[in-house]
Amino acid sequence: MCEKLDLSTLPKRKLYTGEEIPPVGLGTFGSDKYGSEEISHAVCGAIRYGYRLIDCAAVYQNEEQIGNSLETVIQEGTVTRKELFITSKVWNDMHGPGKVLESCQKSLQDLRLTYIDLYFVHWPFPNYHAPGCSGDSRNPDSKPFSVDEFMATWRQCEELVDKGLVRYIGMSNMTIPKLEAVLPLCRIQPAALEMECHPGFQQPELFDYAVRHHILPVGYCPIGSPSRPERDRTESDVADTQMEEIVDIAKAHGVHPAVVCLKWAVQRGVVPIPFSVKLPQYQSNLSCAASDPLTPQEMECIRKADKDCRLIKGQVFLWPGASDWEDLWDINGTITR
Ligand SMILES: NC(=O)c1ccc[n+]([C@@H]2O[C@H](COP(=O)([O-])OP(=O)(O)OC[C@H]3O[C@@H](n4cnc5c(N)ncnc54)[C@H](OP(=O)(O)O)[C@@H]3O)[C@@H](O)[C@H]2O)c1
Repeated sequence: MCEKLDLSTLPKRKLYTGEEIPPVGLGTFGSDKYGSEEISHAVCGAIRYGYRLIDCAAVYQNEEQIGNSLETVIQEGTVTRKELFITSKVWNDMHGPGKVLESCQKSLQDLRLTYIDLYFVHWPFPNYHAPGCSGDSRNPDSKPFSVDEFMATWRQCEELVDKGLVRYIGMSNMTIPKLEAVLPLCRIQPAALEMECHPGFQQPELFDYAVRHHILPVGYCPIGSPSRPERDRTESDVADTQMEEIVDIAKAHGVHPAVVCLKWAVQRGVVPIPFSVKLPQYQSNLSCAASDPLTPQEMECIRKADKDCRLIKGQVFLWPGASDWEDLWDINGTITR
């Protein structure tokens, strides 16, 4: 009999409709390091332990294997489809007319589902780079953000909701200027915003903006993505699990620094989606939301430790003429074109 977490001990997060979702999900991007078999095996183990939210994406190239796992845990009676909350994302090369439906149908087929709970626009650009490419690679067809093009993609996402293929739609890798431009145009509002979020990169303004607009912040790289691909590493990057404040708090609670990052996220109101294929890791990543919370002083200490250090800079999406990766993130407060 495998170990199971008592789910009634976990806090819940609310979507704008009032529907409740789990406070922590499982990430499924293998960072070019973990293969789809290992990841899908972890998905089974994680659901058996108590995970209900699984963060998927077409570009992770493992939805078919994860589909096997979902089928297994449903057929064996561990969960019903309704108890699960499965996300997926349309990749950048599928933004064109009719393509979003095609992409969603492929994910549905691979995941063996009749609907996806939350479907994200993965990046707000149609700029494509091949999975596993180097950090220096550039696609000459890349373009800056366009409100019209983004909205054409969003309209296709709205139609997926109309067709009953997805229950909610979400945005990812957005900035406040981009959200300001597109939110008034949405017929169906984004339920969630997937954003990089960890102690060394807290994005307080974007977090507050999302919450004010009833958009649930979902935090990616919540542990600072220690296994991320080489292309997403620079010398000045901060390692969250080595930050002095995080290490000290971890000692005080007798847990790994990774767990402190997750407790902080949950208590702040972000839904972290940590990746792990290792059973003790993914079990503690969920169970840590249930007990031994950080004190208000510890929460404040981590808030003050923000290093504003973005790890996923997205430089492979830059368009010809852009100066550097900061252009992707509108750091001057207006949309950079
Ligand atoms: N929307 C987007 O554009 C976007 C971008 C990036 C990621 N994501 C999503 O976010 C998920 C999470 O991000 P991520 O995978 O980059 O980074 P992460 O969750 O911050 O880091 C994952 C790594 O942390 C380590 N770890 C996990 N739990 C641990 C524990 N309890 N104790 C010690 N170490 C632990 C593991 O390292 P070892 O491998 O060394 O064990 C694992 O590989 C992805 O899988 C993906 O689903 C979305």
